[in-house]
Amino acid sequence: MSSAQVGRRTLLTGSLLGGAGALALAGGIASSGTRSTDPAQARTPAGGPGDLVVPFHGEHQVGIATPPPPHAVFVGLDLDDGVGATGLGRLMRVWTDDISRLTAGVPPVTDQEPEVAVRPAGLTVTVGWGPSLFDRTGLVDRRPPWLTPLPSLPADDLDEAYGGTDLLLQLCSHSPVPLAHARRLLVGAARGIATPRWVQPGFRDPAEVAGLAFRNEFGQVDGTVQPDVADRDAGLLWIGPDAPTHPGWVGGSSLVLRRIRMDMEGWERADRVAREHAVGRDLATGAPLTGGRESTPVDLHALTPGGLPVVDRHAHVRRAGAQAPHERFLRRPYSYEQVGGDGNVETGLLFAAFQADPVRQFLPVQRRLAAGDLLNLWTVPVGSAVYAVLPGCAEGGWLGRSLLA
Ligand code: HEM
Repeated sequence: MSSAQVGRRTLLTGSLLGGAGALALAGGIASSGTRSTDPAQARTPAGGPGDLVVPFHGEHQVGIATPPPPHAVFVGLDLDDGVGATGLGRLMRVWTDDISRLTAGVPPVTDQEPEVAVRPAGLTVTVGWGPSLFDRTGLVDRRPPWLTPLPSLPADDLDEAYGGTDLLLQLCSHSPVPLAHARRLLVGAARGIATPRWVQPGFRDPAEVAGLAFRNEFGQVDGTVQPDVADRDAGLLWIGPDAPTHPGWVGGSSLVLRRIRMDMEGWERADRVAREHAVGRDLATGAPLTGGRESTPVDLHALTPGGLPVVDRHAHVRRAGAQAPHERFLRRPYSYEQVGGDGNVETGLLFAAFQADPVRQFLPVQRRLAAGDLLNLWTVPVGSAVYAVLPGCAEGGWLGRSLLA
């Protein structure tokens, strides 16, 4: 992407896109404006949601603190045999160039469908490195100390088909079309260096863009209690200069991706009271069972007239709630449906959590849930992977340079 093209971007105003525009601005999204490719000029009306651009360059990668758009796909790739640090560096340079173009609505030179690329619809691509990558490339001294698979937990029934890989791409967009296009192009660009092991698509309700809450497939309001990562809790999300890891990680983060199957038939057999007690919140409004609105803090000490806790001892919010200030992370989940050839559909949640240190922040919470969470009656983790998320890069730089150069 040339600096001229960046310069020609115009920020969308809230009035142009209504709620979507307002949210887009909150997440640092701009319009791609005029473009240089002929097909774009001939066919793309400017100013629609398809033209949304999330600026790629910066201290941090986007697709983390960015408000989650309705469509996502996670791609886990493994390095091909014999590929070392040099090959990895080549891939990072190629991906950075392609991602910076695709997210700006500028087709990469190798793009066979440039007409699709010109409408990125807020496309973001986020790149992570898995624990195994460091052994395979001789970069063990750059691996963060917390970058290891989660220990096996009692509630898990993990399928290696959705296990950790050397590399991760997380792509998100307001439209599934540029998303699929970017996935194909980036996987194609990796040919000869890395090969996908799994592809996990996810979705959220587009209505959230207008400020409504995310409802997962159980119909629950999900994502209410979150750290304030844009401000006072930024240190919970981003790796800082004092972190006990290679300085090349400063500005990066980590991603824990748990694929959690949801037993829809079992859930549909449970009555509303049981469902609400499993979480500790009202299904319709997301408000705590102890009263108030969605944003009201849960009162974990409240008792019924009979002296029993209003929020069950094993309710999800009691078990998941932070028991120390550092036990917090940014949840950015997507629902999934996997249609089998036999007509069966597996439903679940691609639970994505971002934090500076997953062992310190995420693991204690996950351990409490695995040991006794009422939601476990209807949920089973079937996939688990942990990644170090690379810092962002400035124009002219490339992702991973601070660790490879
Ligand atoms: C399919 C699996 C899951 C479902 C359906 C689910 C659903 C929910 C719901 C409905 C809430 C209440 C509203 C909110 O604050 O967002 C919640 C809260 C929360 N969940 Fe989950 N969750 C799942 C898995 C997990 C996992 C695996 C973790 C982390 C290991 C987790 C961590 C949290 C946290 C930290 C909260 C906020 C607790 C608080 O402070 O009130 N959840 N979840």
